[in-house]
Amino acid sequence: MTDIPRKILVTSALPYANGPIHLGHLVEYIQTDIWVRFQKLRGHQCHYVCADDTHGTPIMLRAEKEGITPEQLIARVWAEHKADFDGFLVGFDNYYSTNSPETRHYADDIYTKLKAAGLIEVRAIEQYYDPVKEMFLPDRFIKGECPKCHAKDQYGDSCEACGTTYSPTDLLNPYSAVSGATPIRKQSDHHFFKLGACADFLRGWIQPPRVQAESANKLAEWLDAGLSDWDISRDAPYFGFEIPGAPGKYYYVWLDAPIGYMGSFRNYCDKNGLDFDAFWDKHKAAQAGTELYHFIGKDILYFHALFWPAELESAGYRTPTGVFAHGFLTVNGTKMSKSRGTFITASSYLQHLNPEWLRYYFAAKLGSGVDDIDLNLEDFVARVNSDLVGKYINIASRAAGFIHKLFGGSIPVASHTIQGFSSWDAKTIIEEARKGRGVALEQMTGFLRERSEEIAKFYDEREYAKAMRRIMELADLVNQVFDAFEPWKAAKTDHALAGQVCGAVLEGFRILSIFLHPVLPKLTNEALAFLNSPRLGESGSPTWENAVFASLFAGHTINTYQPLMTRIDPKQIDALIAANTQSMAPAPESHSQARHAEHQQHETQTAMDPIAETISIDDFAKVDLRVARIAAAAYVEGADKLLQLTLDLGGETRNVFAGIRSAYEPKDLEGRLTVMVANLAPRKMKFGLSEGMVLAAGPGGKELFILSPDAGAQPGMRIK
Ligand code: MSP
Ligand code: ZN
Repeated sequence: MTDIPRKILVTSALPYANGPIHLGHLVEYIQTDIWVRFQKLRGHQCHYVCADDTHGTPIMLRAEKEGITPEQLIARVWAEHKADFDGFLVGFDNYYSTNSPETRHYADDIYTKLKAAGLIEVRAIEQYYDPVKEMFLPDRFIKGECPKCHAKDQYGDSCEACGTTYSPTDLLNPYSAVSGATPIRKQSDHHFFKLGACADFLRGWIQPPRVQAESANKLAEWLDAGLSDWDISRDAPYFGFEIPGAPGKYYYVWLDAPIGYMGSFRNYCDKNGLDFDAFWDKHKAAQAGTELYHFIGKDILYFHALFWPAELESAGYRTPTGVFAHGFLTVNGTKMSKSRGTFITASSYLQHLNPEWLRYYFAAKLGSGVDDIDLNLEDFVARVNSDLVGKYINIASRAAGFIHKLFGGSIPVASHTIQGFSSWDAKTIIEEARKGRGVALEQMTGFLRERSEEIAKFYDEREYAKAMRRIMELADLVNQVFDAFEPWKAAKTDHALAGQVCGAVLEGFRILSIFLHPVLPKLTNEALAFLNSPRLGESGSPTWENAVFASLFAGHTINTYQPLMTRIDPKQIDALIAANTQSMAPAPESHSQARHAEHQQHETQTAMDPIAETISIDDFAKVDLRVARIAAAAYVEGADKLLQLTLDLGGETRNVFAGIRSAYEPKDLEGRLTVMVANLAPRKMKFGLSEGMVLAAGPGGKELFILSPDAGAQPGMRIK
C-alpha cells in the first residue's frame, strides 16, 4: 500500500556530449524512467534529473575539428540527445548541462571544502606532451607500436591486435594522434584527491542495500587492493572549469560530472521553488528523510561508489541512498557492432520502430542485478508481438466490438466491479468460467487487483522482468476467461451474460493498463482514453491504488476501438539493421582507374579521363546530391581500402563504405562536411548495406580528395 509519500531524487548517468545516444545507453535511461514513473504513480514526490556531460579533451578537439566552439558543439549535441530521450519517452524533470554556473558553483564548493579538509595534494607528474599542439595528451590520443606484437597505430593504453595492456610510455615510436608529432615527456603539477584517507568511511559505506551485493564484492576488492590518490586536474588547453587559485589547471571531467547531478537539480529547484538543501545538505536531508538514487552502468561503479561518496562525505553533503548498477547491452549475443549493423543509434531506431516496443522488451529482461542484457532481435519481435499485441491489446480489440454492437458502447452490468479480492485461484476461475458462471468474472477482476501490491513491489525492487511476467500471466487469464465464456455464442443466447463478460474483460484490460503504465506510458494512456478512464502520470491523475480500485460502472461509455498497437514486421528490423550497417561506397572502378592513372601523371586530367557524354538538366536532376556531415568514421575490419562513414543528412543518417582509407584517417573526417549521392540505390556488400556514396576526386592512393562545401552549408541541403 502507498503510505507516507517519499521524497526521492533520481539520476541517470550523464551521457557524454561527444557521441549519439545508442540502444546501450537506453538500457539505463529506460530502466530509470520506468522506476521514476512507477514512484510518481504511487503518489511519491520523485524528481528525475540528468544532463549532458560536456567537458574534456575529446570534446575540445572535436569542436576544433568541426571549426566551431565547444559551446556550439555541446549545444547541438544537447538538442540531439534531448530529442532522442523525448522520442523514447524518458521523462526527465530536468535535462541540463554540466557546463553550467550551478555545476561550477558546486564543483568549486566541493573542491574548496576538500582542500580545507586537507584532502587535496598538489604534486608534479611526468606525462606525454605534444610539442606541436602544445598540450598534454590523454592516453587515447597517443598512438604507437605495440611493445609486444609490434602492431602499428595502437592506442596508448592497450593493443587492439594482441590485447596487451600497457602504459603510454611503453609504446614504441609513439606519436600524437592530434598532430602526428612525436610526444615529449614533460612535468606538470597536478591536483590529487586523497581517496585513501576515506578508506575507513568507504569500507562502512559500500554495504547493501546501498549497493547491490555484486557491487559490494567488487568494491571491497578495490578497497582491499588499496585506494590510490585520484588525479583531479588537467592542464590547459582543456574544455572545463578552471580551478580557483590554480591558473591553467582545470577540473578533470570526472570531478565535475557527478557534481552535474547537483547542478541540474539546483537549476530545477530554482525554476520550481524547491528546497535544494532538503536533498543535499547532510543534516537537512536526514531531517527531511529525502532519498537519493543513482542509476549507472557497471563500468562507472568506481566513480559513483568510491570517489563520489568520499567527496560528498568529506565536503559535508549527504551521500546517496542507493547506487544501482546495471549490465551492458549485447545485441544477438555479442557486443554491439557497427559492421553487423547492431550499433543502433536512438535516432535511427526511432525512424524505424516504435519506442514502446523497446521499452517493453528491456523491461521484460531487466532485473535488479548487474547482469548484461541481450537484445535478441528475433526474440524481440516474437515477444512484443505475442505479449503486447497478442495478449494485452488483444483483450480490448476482442471485447470492444461486442459492447458497441450489443450495448451501444456502454458497459451494461456492474457485477464485475467488486472492490474486494478474489478467493479463487486462476485454475478455478477458468473452470467456473467454462461452466458459464458469471461469478467467475468478479473473481477474475478481484484476482487482478489482488496482484497489484506484488507487482508494485517488483517495480520498486527494479525486478521488472518479474513484474512483466506476472502481468502477462494476468493478461493470459483474462483472455482465457473470455474464451471460456464464448461470448460470441452467448451473444445470441444470453445477451446479458455476453455483456457482463465483455465489461469484465475490459475492466481487466483497464487494470492491466495501470500495471503496464510505467513501462508503456503512451500506449496505456491511449488505452485508458479509449475506456474513457482518467489518464495516468499527469498532474491530477489518480495514483496507482486509486486507479486500481476504481472501476467501469454500469452505464460507463467507452470510445470506438482503434487499433492501439501494431505488430512488428520483421522487415522493419531488417531495415533498421541495414540503416545502421556501415556500408561501402563501391570503389572498384575508381581504384582501377586510380592505379592506371598513377602511371600517367604527366598527362592532363581530362586526357586521362575524357569528359562524358552530354546530359540534359533533367538527367542531372535525377541525382540527389546532398551536403552531409560525417558524424562518424571508422576502419572496416578486413578491408584495407575502406572507411565506414556515418553521414548525417540533418536528421537522417546514412551508412556508406568509402574507398578512401588510403588517403584519410577516420579522425580527420569526423565532424566535417562533404557531399554525397543520397538517392543511389542501396547496395548489399560484403560488409553490409551501402546507402549512398561520397564524392571524391583524384587518382587514388594518397591522392584522393573528398569534396567540402563552403562554410555555412548545412547537413541535408540539396546541391543543385
Ligand atoms: N559521462 C559518463 C557518466 C558521467 S555520470 C556523472 C559516461 N557517459 S556515457 O555516455 O559513456 O555513458 C552513459 C551511461 O550509459 C553510463 O551509465 C554507461 O554505463 C551507460 N552505457 C553506455 N553504453 C552502454 C551499453 N552498451 N549498455 C548498457 N549501458 C551502457 O559514462
Ligand atoms: Zn600488440
